Amino acid sequence: MTLTSLLPADHPINVSDTGDSRLALACRGERSGPRPVWFMRQAGRSLPEYREVRRGVAMLDSCLMPELAAEITLQPIRRHGVDAAVLFSDIVVPLKLAGIDVEIVPGVGPVVARPIRTVGDIRALPELDPAALAPVEDAIRICTAELGATPLLGFAGAPFTLASYLVEGGPSREHLVTKAMMYAEPAAWSELAGWVARTTAAFLRAQVLAGASAVQLFDSWAGGLSLANYTEHVASHSATVLSAVADLPVPRIHFGVGTGELLPAMRDAGATVIGVDHRIPLSVANARLGGTTPLQGNIDPAALFAGREALHRHTLDVLREGDSAPGHIVNLGHGVPPDTDPDVLTELVAFVHDQP
Ligand code: CP3
Repeated sequence: MTLTSLLPADHPINVSDTGDSRLALACRGERSGPRPVWFMRQAGRSLPEYREVRRGVAMLDSCLMPELAAEITLQPIRRHGVDAAVLFSDIVVPLKLAGIDVEIVPGVGPVVARPIRTVGDIRALPELDPAALAPVEDAIRICTAELGATPLLGFAGAPFTLASYLVEGGPSREHLVTKAMMYAEPAAWSELAGWVARTTAAFLRAQVLAGASAVQLFDSWAGGLSLANYTEHVASHSATVLSAVADLPVPRIHFGVGTGELLPAMRDAGATVIGVDHRIPLSVANARLGGTTPLQGNIDPAALFAGREALHRHTLDVLREGDSAPGHIVNLGHGVPPDTDPDVLTELVAFVHDQP
């Protein structure tokens, strides 16, 4: 056990050895015993017990009810035996806590009532009062008490992905207004991304201090950017977020969808582990990263619907590919689809744990 004074004395890394969990070891590039496995969106609509407790409660309200958020966080641990819990929350929670009028519309995603389009809009953005994060911290304290040696992952949305929701006003395929702002008004863009970075960084750091043992930064929509756009307009803001926890002894996973061209830049933004979607093999990701960065991924979520034999075959491919990297955390290439049969996930966890 490595007691660290960088974290509170009662942090799970200090009292429950989560810093030596399977997840933490793989994040440090150590290979011994079964590979760790967890799933993005493991908490959610695929679980009947989730649908039951969420009935009649709006998504973002549920994130801010500590007992409920902790219960939902624990559901996939009890059911699937995954190697990490991921806090039940959402990337837009810190925006809401700062005072932005945002809600999550079922089947659509985050919708922002008044999109941010002008320099005036950007300058009027409210600063997040750290005290507003109390419900998130309380949820973490409740669930880490039950998690014991299983690490809790905290997470945040990266500046580009969050700024896209703010500027477009909702989900967008092409992020046209956001990217046009980047090209036409780089200074305004930078102010906006800077605000998002401060806000989402405070959310991430609060989670670690409250008990998260690892973090993941989701830049879900960064795959819509060229490498040149990413390095010029985005990477420094993502680096601000990752640097907000870089003094703390927790792994920093950085994930995006369709970001095969951006992997080294995403690592250089300050990540210690790179999450890879299912569009490129892990050996290719590893080669692009120079063979020095532990990887997370990348079972195609569609394979969950392909039947046991095909899923096992695909999973064995992913494990073999992952063996090329210094460390491998098994995950999907993106989130669990809502209509996934949860028994398929439970069985997949056991299958991964059974592999030498
Ligand atoms: O992974 C987990 O289990 C932890 C919880 C988590 C949620 N959202 C809960 C949630 C995490 C890590 C997120 C991150 C998130 N939220 C991202 C990045 C990850 C990704 O998928 O790329 C993004 C882009 C969002 C924004 C968002 N929130 C979307 C697009 C949606 C889906 C809307 C829909 O109904 O299709 C949400 C809602 C959301 N966030 C749900 C959950 C469990 C579903 C809400 C419900 O049950 O109705």
